[in-house]
This record gives sequence, C-alpha cells and structure tokens, in this order.
Amino acid sequence: MITSKQLREKWIKFYESKGHINIGAVSLIGDGTTGVMFNVAGMQPLMPYLLGKKHPMGTRLCNVQGCVRTVDIDSVGDATHFTFFEMMGNWSLGDYFKKEKTAWSFELLTEVFGFDKDKICSTVFEGNESVPKDTETAELLKGLGIKEENIFFLDKKNNWWELEGTVGTPCGPDNEWFYPRHDNKCCDTCDVNCDCGRYVEIGNDVYMQYKKLEGGKYGELENKNVDTGFGLDRLLLFLNGLTDGYKTDLFIDTIKLLESISGKNYDEDLDAQKAMRIIADHTRTSVMLIGDKNGILPSNTGAGYILRRLLRRAIRYCKNLAIDSESICEVAKIFIEKIYDEAYPLLVEKEDYILDEIRKEIKKFEATLAAGMKEFDKCIFGIERKNAFMSSKDASFVPETTISGKQAFRLYDTFGFPLELTIELATEKGFGVDEEGFNVAFKEHQEISKAQSAAAKGGLTEQTETTTKYHTATHIMLAGLRKMFGTKTEQKGSNITDERMRFDFNLDHKMTAEELKELQDFVNTVISKKIPVERVEMPYNKAIEQGAYGVFNPQSEDEIVSVYIIGDVDKQICGGPHICNTGDLGEFIIKKEESSSSGVRRIKAILK
Ligand code: SER
Repeated sequence: MITSKQLREKWIKFYESKGHINIGAVSLIGDGTTGVMFNVAGMQPLMPYLLGKKHPMGTRLCNVQGCVRTVDIDSVGDATHFTFFEMMGNWSLGDYFKKEKTAWSFELLTEVFGFDKDKICSTVFEGNESVPKDTETAELLKGLGIKEENIFFLDKKNNWWELEGTVGTPCGPDNEWFYPRHDNKCCDTCDVNCDCGRYVEIGNDVYMQYKKLEGGKYGELENKNVDTGFGLDRLLLFLNGLTDGYKTDLFIDTIKLLESISGKNYDEDLDAQKAMRIIADHTRTSVMLIGDKNGILPSNTGAGYILRRLLRRAIRYCKNLAIDSESICEVAKIFIEKIYDEAYPLLVEKEDYILDEIRKEIKKFEATLAAGMKEFDKCIFGIERKNAFMSSKDASFVPETTISGKQAFRLYDTFGFPLELTIELATEKGFGVDEEGFNVAFKEHQEISKAQSAAAKGGLTEQTETTTKYHTATHIMLAGLRKMFGTKTEQKGSNITDERMRFDFNLDHKMTAEELKELQDFVNTVISKKIPVERVEMPYNKAIEQGAYGVFNPQSEDEIVSVYIIGDVDKQICGGPHICNTGDLGEFIIKKEESSSSGVRRIKAILK
C-alpha cells in the first residue's frame, strides 16, 4: 500500500535527485492570461518558459500541480472520472532531452515503483508531414530493456500533445507509458490499442519542441523541452492494485463517512455508490476552488457558476442518499484536515471560511429547491387546468401530458433543477418532459451565454466583492449620464479591476468639470440613500415595456432575462452580480475623463 502523501514525496525526491527544483503548485484558477478558467495541465503555468522565457528557478523543474477539468462533470459517478486531480510533473527547459528523460522515466517506473520492465509498454509518434517518426525515442527505449514488441508507433491522435484550440502554445510528440492491470489477454491481439481496459496509461513524456501556429501548422521552438505529466490519482490507484478511484486513501474516508451517515452500502447499492462518488468528487473540487489562493465563490457566471453547479449537484445527491446537505461540510472537513492538509496547508488556514461558504450555498439552494418545487407544481396545475377547460368544450380533445422544454429549462436554469429531477417528478404525476425541447432551450441559452461572455470579455472578468461593487457603480453612473445627456447615452464598454472601474459611453463632447462634478455627486447621492438593489426575472418584452435597458440581444421576445433595479434610479437588463444595497459602495470618485474613440468618452473612477 502506498499513500498519496508518499507518492507525492517519492516523485519530488526522485526528480530532485536528478537536479530538479520543486517549484510548487500555482493557483487552480486561471489568471486570465491563457484564456482558460481553470488550470487544466501541469504545463499550463509554464507556458511562457516552454516558449523560451528564462525561468528564475533554472532549467530543471518539478512539482505536483492541481488541475481542474470540468468538461465531463456529468461522467463523474463512475469509477475513474474526477473533476479535480493532481499532475506530477517535471520539465526540462532546453536542458536534457530524450536520452535522459527516457532513462529517468524507466528508472522511476522499474526501481522506485517496482514495475516489471518486461510488461511496460510505450507508445511513440509515427510521424506525419510536419514531424518525423520518433525512432530516436523508440531506440532509446529498446536500449533500456523495453521489449521491442512492447513499443508501438501511433498517430497524431494518440501520440501528439497540445492544448486544444490554442494557437501560440508549445506542443510536440509524446512518449506515453502503459502498464497492464493483469496478464489475461481478452483476445489474441490484446495490446495497448485494445479497449478492454487491461492497459492503463500511467504517464506521458512530451517532447515539446514545437509551437502551434495558425492553420494547423507547427513551428520549431528555440528550445528542446521536455514536459512530463503523471496523474497522481491514477498512479495511486494502479500502484495499490485498485480499479475504483474512490477506494484510494484520497477518498476512502469520505466514502466510509457517507456510508455511516446514510446507512447505505457503497459496494452493494449502486445508486448510493453513484451518489457518494458525486458528493465526494464535487465536494473535493469545491473545497479546492474556494480554498485556493485566488479562491472563488459560487456565482451565476464563469468559474463561479461551475463551482455552483458542482456544489448544487452534490447537494442534490445528498437528497438522493436521503442525508442532510450539511453532510457536505463533514466530507469537506476530511479533505481539509486529513487528506490535503500537508500538500495544501492553505486549506487548513481557510477551513472556517471554506465551510462557511459551502453552508451559505447549501442554504441558498435549499431555498430555490423549495421555490422550484412550487414552480413545478404550477406547471402541472397549468397543464391540468388547460386540459379540463379544453375537454369541457371539445369532447375529442386529447389531453396534454408533457412539460414543455422551456418549462423544464426554466426549472433547470432558474431553480437549479437538473433535467433528471424534473423527469422523475413528472413521471410520478403521469407526465412526460419534452427533452428535445429542453436541449433546444439549453443550446439557445449556451449561445446567449457565449455571446454574453464574449461581450463581457475585458469587462467583468472575475468577481470579487470589490469588482461586484464597481459593477453596481457603473449602473448608477450610467443612470446619471442618461439623466444628464438623455437616454441615447449607452454603455460602449466596461473594464473592471479590483482597483478601479473604466467605463466607455457615447457622448459628443468632452465633459466639463461641472458636468463631472454633477455626475460624481449624483452617484454619491444614490449611495448615501442606501437604496436596495433588487434582481427580478421577467420576459424580455415585459422588461423593455417597463423601461429597462441594456446591451442585450434576446433570442426571443419572451426570453426570461434578469433585471437589476436600483429604486427609481436605474433598471438594467444584466447578468449581474451586484451588491445588495447602494449604501455599501463607499465614496465614488471620478479620476479621469478622456476620449476613447470617435464619439466615445471614457471615465475612470474609484470607490473609496
Ligand atoms: N502536458 C502533458 C499532459 O498533460 C504532460 O504534462 O499530459
């Protein structure tokens, strides 16, 4: 039995013995420079150095880096999908190359981890029009003692590593390491290429000497780098002869706890098993995201929304297990105090805060859960009433028995009801759900969100309490501008940081000192009045009818939008978030007014 703590230590020790410096892990939250929400690979923070920038710690680096991948949240619940995992990595930044790297990976696998060299399999790149076949690596592997029949040349799909879609990033052919779980071939041709599951990929050495260019082309990098990644969670599983990722020391205590609270058996009750896995995985990732040094909180947009989805899915599965949602906090405590206390000491420091925020989200969701149930009953009642009315008029009327896709989506989107929950509830009442219609509504929503987030790019990028305040301040200021210069005045751009707001709007002249003072006074008066900021949802056409405005292109006239209302000062269609009361903004000070482009002025302002 090897524990996760021992495995991390072994990795670092081994590479330190080969002259590497442990650079530690960076934040899980994307810093906005790479365009990703979360850190998805160990190499991601090292991108500039792989591209040639000098790293302050030298040319041989190693670490264990947390990663969050949420593309397949919905697959979590099986034995091997996780939304958080740790990547054990090491890098050569233009230092050693294939000869040393193949030898070290081989030494680590055989001598440190005790793998049988006759069973180790390796795959290398077969080459294509841009990059030659990697016979060099294959020869080196043979020289180390790996059997020739265990070395496979595979195509770009298998043996080329790059971050999807990102031009300008380093990439290259890779050498992947595989090992069989057992010796029983499923058929005569059972090898690494077989999908019977006998072979498991345990690690990956990328020879990163190319850079992704436009149009699917690749350019040579100045440096020949190595980028190694071995997934800790997977290797741990493997080294302990397990097949269920929730049975390693990373999870076993949380599963035991959930078994004892629920009185259900993880191995025998498969529904309970799925629920326990989801609760454990989602809680772990939530703990990591809230407890990160750039920690985030649940919200309705961006990374915060992913966190919200994770937590709410965990809460919902507590209902399935028939346990109190607060159990999530008990699960979280195990991760913080027992599993990740040494590798992530910040979690211990932030423990109370993390648990508090999880509790808040539980409360919030439990509140909408009840409201959602009411909404659901209303849907059913509406259909039944219509059926009764129509039947009384027309005896041949065929009653409706389907909840529309739009209604199901509203339950999902506004009340956090997963589609499966709506279907389950509907079935109990003898109703169905228009799943196709749901998917259409979902897609439409995704497109709108994409358009909105594109529009918000350079606007509100991450929400801290301060940026949220600035966001509300822009609403009040725009209201002031419209009061002074008429309702043709519109937002042309917005960029908010923790330090200041920058707001662009159309106006045909440079604002005078008097006008600036008038505007500043207007905002400060609204602040001093301590006006509550209210959020209301309504169909788009109704919002417009009521005088709301905002840069927003609805998909349909009756699309539900959220409107933020600040007393009788302002009414804007907006995704939020906003603070609850203008009184919390502090003092508003305009720092600068300048031209942004033709007919567009720019104001920089701060809150004190
Ligand atoms: N970048 C490679 C991977 O993520 C190796 O670190 O698999």
